[in-house]
Amino acid sequence: MSDYYITTPIYYVNSNPHIGTAYTTILADTAARYHRLLGEHTYFLTGTDEHGDKIAQSAAREGTAPKVFVDRISQKFRDLWPLIHTAPDRFIRTTDEDHLAVVKHILQRLYDKGDIYFGEYGGNYCTGCERFLTDTELVDGKCPDHQTKPEYVKESNYFFRMSNYQEWLIDYIKQHPDFIRPERYRNEVLGFLREPLEDLCISRPKTRLEWGIEIPFDKDYVVYVWFDALLNYLTGIGYDSNPEWSEYWVSAEHLIGKDILKPHGIYWPTMLHAAGIDMFQHLTVHGYWNFKDSKISKSSGKPVDILPLVAEFGADAVRYFLIRDMVVGLDASFSISSMVKRINSDLANDLGNLFSRVAKLIGDHFEGKLPESKDSSCEPRESAASLIERLPVLVNEFSLHTLIEEVLQMVRATNRYFESNAPWKLVKTDKEAAGTVLHNCAEALRIAAVLLHPVMPERTSRLLARMGEPTEGFVIDSAGQWGRLRAGTRFEKGDALFPRIDEKELPEKIPDYFDNPQGTVEIAETENIIEIADFSKIDLQVAKVISAEKLPQADKLLKLQIRIGTETRQIIAGIAEYYSPEQLIDKLIIVVANLKPTKLRGEVSQGMLLAAKAGGKLVLVTPDGDIPSGAKVG
Ligand code: MSP
Repeated sequence: MSDYYITTPIYYVNSNPHIGTAYTTILADTAARYHRLLGEHTYFLTGTDEHGDKIAQSAAREGTAPKVFVDRISQKFRDLWPLIHTAPDRFIRTTDEDHLAVVKHILQRLYDKGDIYFGEYGGNYCTGCERFLTDTELVDGKCPDHQTKPEYVKESNYFFRMSNYQEWLIDYIKQHPDFIRPERYRNEVLGFLREPLEDLCISRPKTRLEWGIEIPFDKDYVVYVWFDALLNYLTGIGYDSNPEWSEYWVSAEHLIGKDILKPHGIYWPTMLHAAGIDMFQHLTVHGYWNFKDSKISKSSGKPVDILPLVAEFGADAVRYFLIRDMVVGLDASFSISSMVKRINSDLANDLGNLFSRVAKLIGDHFEGKLPESKDSSCEPRESAASLIERLPVLVNEFSLHTLIEEVLQMVRATNRYFESNAPWKLVKTDKEAAGTVLHNCAEALRIAAVLLHPVMPERTSRLLARMGEPTEGFVIDSAGQWGRLRAGTRFEKGDALFPRIDEKELPEKIPDYFDNPQGTVEIAETENIIEIADFSKIDLQVAKVISAEKLPQADKLLKLQIRIGTETRQIIAGIAEYYSPEQLIDKLIIVVANLKPTKLRGEVSQGMLLAAKAGGKLVLVTPDGDIPSGAKVG
């Protein structure tokens, strides 16, 4: 059994998770599941990057202590992963104790070796990137990724002698063509390395930034956030504590977006080499998900939230679209329309419909039991065998979009086989022959489900369960064999695995993803007119009441625990005269989600609910229909 270790970038906790960050995690999770399917001992690491200027500033803006702030946002990432069916083996935080120990250990080692020195440096610092940018990286004096002017920073600091390793790194990349992939990013790194490499500033004076890991040999400094963050990949597999860490390490694959190529392609290998640690196996770089030509990000103001998509289409369908529609290495365009087309054509029509038709005929003519196959030679069998043979190559090359497309080609071949043999007619003249066709189609569907399981773990498990097959833990060597299904097994049709989506209904349901869903709204004149921009400062969201209780010694107040998306909050509401706690449980309400937290009778209130009041009566404002909590109101 060989080992495979895959990592995602650890995400900054200055903003909530979004489609972009979810994408890398879904891609890594899918890759991890494919390696498990190949029978490899696999470890998947993700987590959050919690130190540095950016986080300290976000916490300060909110008036919260950094640790309280990072605990909250980090939890949002942790809560999101199961909702999109990702299952990391470890969720690392750079504030974890074992990580602090690893960072200090490596710093001390490099310092003792003479690879770290004290000096002075001035340069253009971009807080968004959390690094100094060289003059050639600036476009019109601005950071091209963040469109902000960097700040000129000059101070005494510790430096890592990165320049010493420039020649070594060039040679290493040239000798290992697959080290950085796809090739365009390898070339980009080699391009950076054509310029002389400067030493890397790896500290920040505590007078400027306290929120970081203290340098072991100087208590007046904390370590630079990238130096700290990159080392998570070692902490994550128990470097220095688990004797088996190196078995995983040599097969490590770092998956990143192209925005963080330089730290991973240059800082990280030189840090490892200086510390006397072997290189990881691959740095695999993907492009951006764009929406109308610009990168989806918190600051782009584009729709970024993945949960409304998951609520509408289901996590597995969203995963399928994201993996199928991005070629790793290139940018891809996100739109609801392309997502709906993909789900309807591949999943609802080709896969789901075939399953329903086969299951229906088995139900109608074979008492719901799988008929026998008298002859298993058919085109679907051949295409399944050839695909399974190439599976390791496609997985190792990270050609997951091709792999999925090939599974769908096999499904389409099965549809053709089904259509041309017309078992619904054949059953009237030659029941045994019809049984053979249905059995062979079922076998092809089973193998398609096995091959798509890493992309859609939940739906394919359901499909397999309906044929009485194991739903997880299988490996391709056995599960990929044609002929595993036994005649006589119960075969259940069940409800539609991938219901067809009606695109026309979506602008109402997920308006954030459309241009101007509500059209122009005429407003009656009032004295107190505000600009749309003023209104949009108020973040109204749907919340679900999870629990409610009276606040002792406060007749009018109720203490509610509410859920907004993945987050749980407490609010204190003055509605006790109108609602009993029991009436509120499970109710959907509307809350102002971005109010500064306050204390009422000693209890924290993190928001305000909306209610209408007239003539001594008060009623809660609630959504007119079922909609997930976290949905935006506006
Ligand atoms: N904390 C650093 C990484 C340190 S790793 C040792 C960081 N964090 S981040 O929160 O900004 O995450 C960046 C990563 O999120 C990208 O590299 C990419 O994996 C993912 N993406 C963010 N936006 C994205 C898109 N629009 N499209 C695709 N991936 C995106 O950088």
